[in-house]
Amino acid sequence: MQSIATEIIQHLPRNNEARRLFHGRGRALPGYQDLLIDSYGSLIWVTLFAERDDDWLQQLAELLQTLLPQATTIAVRRRDLPHDRPVLLCGELPDKPLAHEAGLNYQLRLTAGQNIGFFIDMAAGRKLVREISAGKKILNLFSYTCSFSVAALAGGARQVVNVDMNRGALQLGRTNHQLNNLDLRKVSFLPHEIFRSLSRLRKLGPFDLIICDPPFAQGKNFTAETHWPKLVARLASLLAPAGEVIACLNAPQMSATDLRSIFAENLPNLQEACCLTAGADFPEADPERGLTIQHYIRI
Ligand SMILES: C[S@@+](CC[C@H](N)C(=O)[O-])C[C@H]1O[C@@H](n2cnc3c(N)ncnc32)[C@H](O)[C@@H]1O
Repeated sequence: MQSIATEIIQHLPRNNEARRLFHGRGRALPGYQDLLIDSYGSLIWVTLFAERDDDWLQQLAELLQTLLPQATTIAVRRRDLPHDRPVLLCGELPDKPLAHEAGLNYQLRLTAGQNIGFFIDMAAGRKLVREISAGKKILNLFSYTCSFSVAALAGGARQVVNVDMNRGALQLGRTNHQLNNLDLRKVSFLPHEIFRSLSRLRKLGPFDLIICDPPFAQGKNFTAETHWPKLVARLASLLAPAGEVIACLNAPQMSATDLRSIFAENLPNLQEACCLTAGADFPEADPERGLTIQHYIRI
């Protein structure tokens, strides 16, 4: 438990901000690649990718209560068991759990689906989008619960089109805009399969900024190796002359360099402006295989 404590102390939450306290998934913390610990105000959310026994969980709960006196609820969710429900180590699940980040709020869904409605590791991406969105017309592909759209509108975007085949996620996306008092007239939510709706999207374009944040694998809907080249090749017809692309990749089988090569081959008139990672709260043994956020500008 001592190494977990040492790590958490270096990543203590500030105010109510959502923060990753412990990131074992990056394999940089030996023996803990099955463990993630996140803080959402008074809720501590522990994600496990393998079984840990009850004694260990009890010790973890005691440690978290000592280090994080603001924590009233500690919940554990097994990600290796697809239909597992959260187990409470203390407290109760809040009725309306929220993630607070940079002055914005995002609704969490703690008991439905594999993910809780918010990707805590994408804070750097949301910050970038907010910084470059003023006045832009934006296409947010694979939008999920539309956190990029919320950040873009907070940054002054003119219009955002969100596309995701998951209707429930888009509904939560709408709630996220309402939670932040954003003007819904500037946003649309399209429940479409992306590769089959490109002609429709072309009619809505061209876009000044296109955000691509697909899953690394989702059955026939997306496989990184086959769908990334297909996706990048199709961006040209959607992008405005001086348009920009933000491409996010978090796939163990594909590296940041692989994604760069796909852009160079399929959209050679784009130039990379910057490349971000998830940041210091997400240590990675091999940074090439961790989250990469690449920002391209058409030249
Ligand atoms: C990694 S999540 C996106 C996260 C989101 N950008 C965020 O910041 O919260 C990937 C999303 O892609 C969607 N998706 C996967 N394949 C798709 C496809 N072919 N067409 C439309 N949506 C797809 C899934 O439903 C899922 O919501």
